[in-house]
Amino acid sequence: MPDLSAYWMPFTANRYFKSHPVLMESAAGMYYRTVDGRELLDAIAGLWCCNAGHCHPRITAAVQAQAERLDYATAFQLGHPDAFRVADRLAALAPAGLNRVFFTNSGSEAVDTALKIALAWHQVNGEPGRTRLIGRERGYHGAGFGGISVGGIDANRRQFRALLPGVDHLPHTHAPEHNAFSRGQPAWGAHLADQLEELIARHDPATIAAVIVEPVAGSAGVLVPPVGYLEKLREICNRHGILLIFDEVITALGRLGASSAAEFFGVRPDLMTVAKALTNGAVPMGAVLVDQRIYDDFMHGPERTIELFHGYTYSGHPLAAAAALAALDVYADEGLFARAAALAPVFEAALHELADAPHVIDVRNLGLMGAVELEPRPGAPTQRALDVFRAALDAGVLVRTTGDSIALTPSLIVTEAQIQEITHALRRALERVD
Ligand SMILES: Cc1ncc(COP(=O)(O)O)c(C=O)c1O
Repeated sequence: MPDLSAYWMPFTANRYFKSHPVLMESAAGMYYRTVDGRELLDAIAGLWCCNAGHCHPRITAAVQAQAERLDYATAFQLGHPDAFRVADRLAALAPAGLNRVFFTNSGSEAVDTALKIALAWHQVNGEPGRTRLIGRERGYHGAGFGGISVGGIDANRRQFRALLPGVDHLPHTHAPEHNAFSRGQPAWGAHLADQLEELIARHDPATIAAVIVEPVAGSAGVLVPPVGYLEKLREICNRHGILLIFDEVITALGRLGASSAAEFFGVRPDLMTVAKALTNGAVPMGAVLVDQRIYDDFMHGPERTIELFHGYTYSGHPLAAAAALAALDVYADEGLFARAAALAPVFEAALHELADAPHVIDVRNLGLMGAVELEPRPGAPTQRALDVFRAALDAGVLVRTTGDSIALTPSLIVTEAQIQEITHALRRALERVD
């Protein structure tokens, strides 16, 4: 066991972890192996990212080969073929017209990039007064200043205070008194999108640049959009010349049994972020898919002028690009999006069997993402869920807690038997915890 003291772990209770460490040694398919030799069934695809399962041999081989061929090439005024190939492949998977791709290294950078492109586009488009951004309560858009500003998870904001100015938030759509135990999209709640009209009226439409939402909120505990809700957001944005950004860091590339949530819901944003499953989690990479008309509007002025003053040293990194190409091949060749769609009803049924388990106050699901919400312990929010997380871990199943919800987001290679194993382990954990 290494010395654990130097590493300041992210989004972690460092002191508790370091006195109760769980370290992974290796992984394959649906399983991790810990340094002390325990096998864990991974019910969360790493962190919503390893959609083809861990250490897929084709992805591993592609990264190894690239590491020997090309370690690095700057993306500033230079390139390498694989980054262009990934862009092309992503454009082919996205809804028609979202065919220009800006590479980042993470979901957080993809979000900040999307927000910056939106702001810059209004400038080139002759409306520099459009500087406001609208997010949504309980939204998670990563940990950058842009992301936490439009994000709506209080705990992620209150330690920092100095956020982007001119940001407002839509209400979230989670209302257990109306939509608890919904299977798939709740029937109640589309009217909450009308609040966008109120925000627009309050701020003046000519000041608003973009609205950003996760089509299905992930990190706040899998909040599925009510029927008709996203369609309304789209329609209101259209009417007021506001760009709509879908943050699909979790939902893109198979999680809902489709290439994107935009495709799944039939609602097309102007910009879309992707990350996580883009490389199957093997190498960090994110991207923003941009409507071609937005890109074209930047392509004016002298040809030797930089059109967007933005980018990262590692944008389109060769190892990430190799991993992405291999991951996209695997998703296609193994038919994983269709597999996720076929498994979704099985997953839904297994999850909703937990409705009568102790402490459960809601069960929600869409595609292969689901959450079981627990009654918080009086005066100690989140603690019961953390105990359930540890109890499940002791039983050999890795789940994730977000607040008082337990999230389940298995790889798309999960079997029906493994789905049962996960939910049965979760039931036993719920029964063991007070
Ligand atoms: C919707 C969404 N956006 C952005 C992010 C941030 O991604 P990253 O952690 O790669 O920066 C996440 C991470 O979970 C996410 O779920």
